[in-house]
Amino acid sequence: MELEQFKKLLERDRSVRRYDETRLISRETLVSLVELTRFCASGRNAQPLRYRLVTEPDERAGVFEHLAWAGYYKDWAGPATGERPTAYLIQCRDTTLGEGLLCDDGLQLQAITLGATTLGISCCIIKAFNSKGVADALGIDPRYKPHYVLALGYAAEKVKLVEMKPDGDFKYYRDEDDTQCVPKRPLDQLIIE
Ligand SMILES: Cc1cc2nc3c(=O)[nH]c(=O)nc-3n(C[C@H](O)[C@H](O)[C@H](O)COP(=O)(O)O)c2cc1C
Repeated sequence: MELEQFKKLLERDRSVRRYDETRLISRETLVSLVELTRFCASGRNAQPLRYRLVTEPDERAGVFEHLAWAGYYKDWAGPATGERPTAYLIQCRDTTLGEGLLCDDGLQLQAITLGATTLGISCCIIKAFNSKGVADALGIDPRYKPHYVLALGYAAEKVKLVEMKPDGDFKYYRDEDDTQCVPKRPLDQLIIE
């Protein structure tokens, strides 16, 4: 793959929060996405992350109630019935392998979201969630501590990247067409002279 193609894939890999709930995702698809994490770098090569796969409607409902969506949208409680994620991957840390995750979590989440993007599936990484609530809802063994929730589904909203304004406001917003707009910093701001 050329660098330009990889950049385009990254550009397509946006956080989506409203999905077409009629379009389901199979367990096999989730397994193939988790497989990608085997190829990620890992601090100490300890590979401490595990995934609980969630596709069944009752389990999806059990996870959903413990999630917080789009902190900047104070008047939006998250996706309504019919536009909720159709699958989740619960990224868990195996507590028997030490405390430190270093950046394994982020590397693996990015591998999964890029892989999902190639399949036309959108994702949202969620840190604002009740870890114990999710663990209890899914009966996850206490050895595994939920660390992130990755929501997945087929997008039912548009998302676009926009140039960050000179005032540096990084809050995402929905425009008059209900498109999710995500300000990104210009390249020259990323490089320290
Ligand atoms: C570490 C991390 C935690 C996040 N947690 C949440 C979350 O709890 N709820 C949510 O709606 N979005 C969450 N997001 C999504 C971010 O809001 C999103 O990445 C950001 O607005 C930029 O949009 P983009 O992913 O389309 O570039 C999280 C993203 C990251 C990387």
